[in-house]
Parts: sequence; structure tokens; C-alpha cells
Amino acid sequence: MTVLIAYGTVEGQTAKIARFINDVARESGYETKLINTGDQIRHVSLAGVGMVILLAPVHERRHPKLFEAFVETQRDALVSRKSLMLSVSLKAAFARGREDALDYLTEMLMRTHFEPDETALVAGAVRPENYGYFEEEIVQHVVLQDQKIDPREGTREFTDWDALREIVETFLNK
Ligand SMILES: Cc1cc2nc3c(=O)[nH]c(=O)nc-3n(C[C@H](O)[C@H](O)[C@H](O)COP(=O)(O)O)c2cc1C
Repeated sequence: MTVLIAYGTVEGQTAKIARFINDVARESGYETKLINTGDQIRHVSLAGVGMVILLAPVHERRHPKLFEAFVETQRDALVSRKSLMLSVSLKAAFARGREDALDYLTEMLMRTHFEPDETALVAGAVRPENYGYFEEEIVQHVVLQDQKIDPREGTREFTDWDALREIVETFLNK
């Protein structure tokens, strides 16, 4: 069976997570199809695809527009397959941020009218090498406002790879 892994990314952490999921799915014996919804995709065929894993990061409370457009245009094909939606954000890394992280996901699902079988919140990363002044200010003063983390100190990954593997394997092998 083929598993479609469709992701959006801005600074690269969700792309890294998608590649990790791709490896986990292949180790579990599945064929995979990995696509970046930010690429200019004219037509994606889901023929032969039995399960889908969707993942996208949050920037200023929203998932990428092209990712949402992909979900909307493919909704009928997606809902007829077993699906897992992962929302990647920094708020998901902290107990006090989980409520916000859940709100981003809930709002995205309401906008796209998509109801995945399973969802999970995944912690992303701080990647200052990819930020300009504006992004650095937003991450430090809006996203990480109550955390003692300075984006200027370099890349910091909050993604829990073992927990992610568990989520993906449980979904695939259920
Ligand atoms: C400009 C900017 C805005 C962000 N806004 C949010 C936000 O509103 N909430 C949040 O939890 N994380 C926010 N983040 C953190 C990203 O979700 C996190 O860095 C994630 O790993 C990005 O994934 P990507 O590298 O695949 O783009 C923001 C990051 C940037 C640079």
C-alpha cells in the first residue's frame, strides 16, 4: 500500500519531519509518495494511495496558504482515505502553549472543512539562520514571549523524534 505524505514548510523543519516520516513508513514496509504542497502542483493523483499523512507549520497562527489550498482541492480524495494531520508549531513544545497550538489546528480544519481521522501537535524548531529582522522579532516577542529562549543563540530543535515515530507507527499499523 502507498502512503501519501504531503507537507508544507517555510524554514525547513516540517520538510525534515516529512522526510523522517517517509523513512519510518518505508521501514514499516509501505511504499511512499512525498510531496511539497508549496511546489507548483498542477495535478496530484491519489490513485493507489491507501493512507495520507498531512503536515504543515504554523506562522503567525496560520498554516501555509498553499497547504490549505491543497487540502481544500483534494478534500474528497483525502476523506475517503485513512488520514493523519500533524500541525507543527513552537507553541506545541510548551505545556502553556498547547491550547494555542490546538486552536491553530482547529481553525485550519474549520476553514478547509477537512476532518482527518487522527491529529497530533508536533513541536517545531527555532531556525534563526533563516530569519530576517521581522521573523526574529515575531519568534522572540510573540511566539516565545514567556520562554527564556533567545533566537539569536542559534538553531534549537524541539521536535521529539521518538514520540513522532510512535505516533506515525501507531497510525500506520493500526
Ligand atoms: C515569522 C514566524 C511566525 C511564527 N508564528 C508562530 C505562531 O504563531 N505560533 C507558533 O506556535 N509558532 C510560530 N512560529 C514557529 C514555527 O511554527 C516553527 O518555527 C516551525 O518549526 C516552522 O516550521 P518550518 O521550518 O517547516 O517552516 C513562527 C515562526 C516564524 C519564523
